Amino acid sequence: MTYSIFAFGRMIDDRERTESYVKALQASVRPGSVVVDIGAGTGVFSLVACQLGARKVVVIEPNEAIQVARESVNANGFSDQVEFVQDLSTVYASVEKADVVVADIRGVLPMHQTSINSMIDARERLLKPKGTLIPGHDSLWATLVQHESIHKQHISPWHWEPLGLNLKAGRPYACNHMRKEQFQPKQLVVEAQCWAELDYRTIVEANIKGSISWTLSENIQTHGIAAWFDTELLPGIGYSNAPQTGRELYGTMYFPFDEVINAQKGQRIQVSIQAKPVNHDYVWIWEAAVFSEDGTRIQRVKQSSLFSSSIHAQRIQKVQDQQVTALSPEGLLALDILEQMRSGLTILNIGRAVYKAYPDRFNDEEDAVHFVAGYALKYT
Ligand SMILES: C[S@@+](CC[C@H](N)C(=O)[O-])C[C@H]1O[C@@H](n2cnc3c(N)ncnc32)[C@H](O)[C@@H]1O
Repeated sequence: MTYSIFAFGRMIDDRERTESYVKALQASVRPGSVVVDIGAGTGVFSLVACQLGARKVVVIEPNEAIQVARESVNANGFSDQVEFVQDLSTVYASVEKADVVVADIRGVLPMHQTSINSMIDARERLLKPKGTLIPGHDSLWATLVQHESIHKQHISPWHWEPLGLNLKAGRPYACNHMRKEQFQPKQLVVEAQCWAELDYRTIVEANIKGSISWTLSENIQTHGIAAWFDTELLPGIGYSNAPQTGRELYGTMYFPFDEVINAQKGQRIQVSIQAKPVNHDYVWIWEAAVFSEDGTRIQRVKQSSLFSSSIHAQRIQKVQDQQVTALSPEGLLALDILEQMRSGLTILNIGRAVYKAYPDRFNDEEDAVHFVAGYALKYT
């Protein structure tokens, strides 16, 4: 996901998050330290590290927001201390290992794109053996939610009868579509439990799963699972994203059930959640099962983000290790442009040539030249 400047501003404005990170940096950065800021965004943690006297700060961020970091580093007179890497940390070859690696590369939950593998890679390749990793530890929490209107938003468009059309094809996709939500405490119908712990100082596996269960003390109705994380950046320094705190930045992940669960007092509900890394992202699988007092399973829902989009499934198929690839027309155009760049032609000449070769692809010659200029920005 590429964040907008507005989103980066909101991250800084989340006082509890920013102040906790600043406290963790104050507790770990010493004059002369080497600091690596992974997913630096607009560079706020890097600037704090410079202010604390770091000798060298490596700002790593693939997003264009790194330009804001460059300007802020200049504006604050820290240019001599800072190195910029506009790329992913996993491709950065460090010259000097860091005393401190700081990162907030999570999404709504810590398993987000390549986040866990990036943290493992950072600890193993970029950090000194006794260096400090911020965050140190995340705890993942979940509970069951009762929220009729959110459930209806998932289901009802696909059963809308006034149109007289069968729209049911959309329902399985919608029911497997997890998303960020905000919940009120009264919508959480059982006590939250921790379903996984991520200790970044020791974690070696990016595939995360956990199970929790509740024996009900009253009848409940539930439409899905709500999940969030709490973090310990360093011992004693951290923050919670629990819905009860009212903090909105990370939000709460809603995993919908495709059937409403009505369970009775004395019955047990077991929930399992798995985040499986697949091709630079995560596929999520969630399951809930209701058991009677004698242990008989009486209801079960099992769903996956894999089924929320046919495109997702096709993408996964495309990038299987053994897949023989064939370039699409767009791929052939890209190859053509890059080859012409390698042979030393100007953007204008390449633009003219590709317009001639692919007249239906562009509105006019100017459009083709702009397109080639985009390649020059990205690849030269
Ligand atoms: C939540 S933002 C945090 C921005 C900034 N640290 C802040 O607190 O304002 C996460 C950023 O991490 C970047 N990112 C994610 N994984 C990364 C990686 N492995 N290496 C470098 N940047 C990464 C994303 O591009 C995104 O801009």
